[in-house]
Amino acid sequence: MQALSAQLRLQRTRIGLVPTMGALHQGHASLVTLARQHSDECVVSIFVNPSQFGPNEDFAKYPRAFDSDCALAESAGATVVFAPDAPGMYPPGYNTYVSVERLTDGLCGASRPRHFRGVATVVLKFFNIVMPDFAVFGQKDAQQVLVLKRMVEDLNVPVRMMVAPTVREADGLAMSSRNAYLTPAERAAAPLIYAGLVMARQRFEAGERNSVRLAEIVEQSMSRTPLLKKEYIDIVDMVELRGLATIASSALLAVACRTQESTTRLIDNTVLGGEL
Ligand code: PAJ
Repeated sequence: MQALSAQLRLQRTRIGLVPTMGALHQGHASLVTLARQHSDECVVSIFVNPSQFGPNEDFAKYPRAFDSDCALAESAGATVVFAPDAPGMYPPGYNTYVSVERLTDGLCGASRPRHFRGVATVVLKFFNIVMPDFAVFGQKDAQQVLVLKRMVEDLNVPVRMMVAPTVREADGLAMSSRNAYLTPAERAAAPLIYAGLVMARQRFEAGERNSVRLAEIVEQSMSRTPLLKKEYIDIVDMVELRGLATIASSALLAVACRTQESTTRLIDNTVLGGEL
């Protein structure tokens, strides 16, 4: 992959990268479509990265669908699929990790302590292997976007970061590879997360600036079902990811919950008064 990219760069080919863990859906496809519009070669990486999963998380059961992933990537415009194996990425003796500090303490970092260290490490490795001009990430994982933007700035990484909006099912549920774990009852209840975010955003647009009251709106929507157990509903600034009591201009409203039956972790977010 690195040899191919080195050659493409000599020809001044514009390389776009979309990093994924596979089990591709329309959310991933939208990232590829955006990347394709700005690139000559569009690389999709598919790698279920062990270093970003905690010991009791779903690494072993994470859905893997390589053949259909290649078909979907190609139909969305990918020209190269890069799918390394775990020993290739982390050979014996591997010992180097990238930690973005403080921004990874809260939100998903609070319950997934080494998750973003694994994400930052593997994404920097992909940047060094693929040497893209730019990479595309989804707003669905807003903390991931802000952590990776911080890494790129702090470590002078010459890759332009692009963000694509969250693609949703018709009923509002954010598309996710993990939605496949949901029981039918959980799947039916899950749109209450986004419904709460939409109501909170409407109240923000009508002038509400108090974070507690905005978070309560999301909480009320989610509490209409016993199947969604809140992990956090937080309103934070988009640079330091610190909690805001009142919103001066813009903020990230982010939610994580766990479903009761299949214990699937679901996340979603909306940006109030700005963009990521
Ligand atoms: P994965 O969960 O496969 O997601 C790959 C990319 O697709 C991420 O940038 C994610 O934000 C985006 N994405 C997922 N669902 C989306 C949706 N409904 N709408 C828009 N974009 C969506 O995120 C990862 O993999 C990994 O952490 C990775 C960055 C690949 C590092 O291993």
